[in-house]
Amino acid sequence: MSKNYQIAVFAGDGIGPEVTREAFKVLEVASQLGGFQINKKSFPHGSEHYLDTGELFPDPIIEEVKTMDSIFLGAIGDPRVEVGLVERAIIAGLRLHLDLFVNLRPIRLLADKFCPLRDKGTEDIDFVVVRENTEDAYAGIGGILRKGAPDEVAIQQMVYTRKGVERIIRYAFELARKRDRKKKLLMVDKANAIRAHDIWTRTYAEVGEEYPDIEQEHAYVDAACMWMVKNPEAFDTVVTTNLFGDIITDLGAVLQGGMGVAASGNIHPGKVSMFEPIHGSAPKYKNQNVACPIAAIAAIQMMLVELGEVSAAVNVEGAIEKVICHEEVTTVSALSGIPTDEWGDRVVEQMRLL
Ligand code: IPM
Ligand code: MN
Repeated sequence: MSKNYQIAVFAGDGIGPEVTREAFKVLEVASQLGGFQINKKSFPHGSEHYLDTGELFPDPIIEEVKTMDSIFLGAIGDPRVEVGLVERAIIAGLRLHLDLFVNLRPIRLLADKFCPLRDKGTEDIDFVVVRENTEDAYAGIGGILRKGAPDEVAIQQMVYTRKGVERIIRYAFELARKRDRKKKLLMVDKANAIRAHDIWTRTYAEVGEEYPDIEQEHAYVDAACMWMVKNPEAFDTVVTTNLFGDIITDLGAVLQGGMGVAASGNIHPGKVSMFEPIHGSAPKYKNQNVACPIAAIAAIQMMLVELGEVSAAVNVEGAIEKVICHEEVTTVSALSGIPTDEWGDRVVEQMRLL
């Protein structure tokens, strides 16, 4: 019997619905070619829904999505709503409530023409960042005292638990082993300035003893940014804190061709996971059919891997590569001159040819 996957869809705000539509065009064809079924359930939650109803992300919806096989999120964010309110409720909410402790962000350059670095090419940029996804400054411990007053105080705590640090480091070691490339893991922290990061240093050393086959390296986050630009070929698997992972993966996205291509998986192995492009909602491009859905399609490719539909994932990955490597494509972004729906059509066409 063919499998039938229940997928929760939060198309979200701005360009979210447009890139989501193309992503599901691809998933639909992947299911036809791969002999499995997709049953999607769309949820309206996002900024528009919040403005209309005052509802952010209610508990029954959180409980419902826990029962699904996977979750897709287009983009969240709208300038008419208080900064970060809906993003924290839905994106961070999914990550925390579903304990999606891994944020997997592959950085792979598919064509030299998209690389902003002089003298670097596809063979130099192929690594993956494993971002811790539930703790750090995102744990939600903080607030503002005497807001607006001259003696105002604002605090946000960086929270790290032994369990949280250990499980992400272990996941990253396993991934470095599974990738079977350079067999090395770089841990990125700022233990020289942030004393709490000592828990990362110690846990990394302890867990590392179980992985003698994996070369273990360490860099402070400021130096890691410098090395990512100077010697990206030295990177293979990177593990880091939530906040640093957020920052260095935007840098990584630019190395691979920009926010138009970068995707991520918010994963709890063995449980429901959530996949999303790492770009935002880009309100100025909303409903113009110019947004590039390649990152959203790449998120579908990551979802297929996690669902175990590996040959479908390989097919989508190959099709993306064919489409963006075409000589007519000079940039993978809203400025490409290629309409949103045509990107999806091109990927689907290649999927059928491969
Ligand atoms: C990301 C985003 C989010 C984050 C925001 C929207 C809360 O920047 O997924 O990288 O900071 O994690
Ligand atoms: Mn980010």
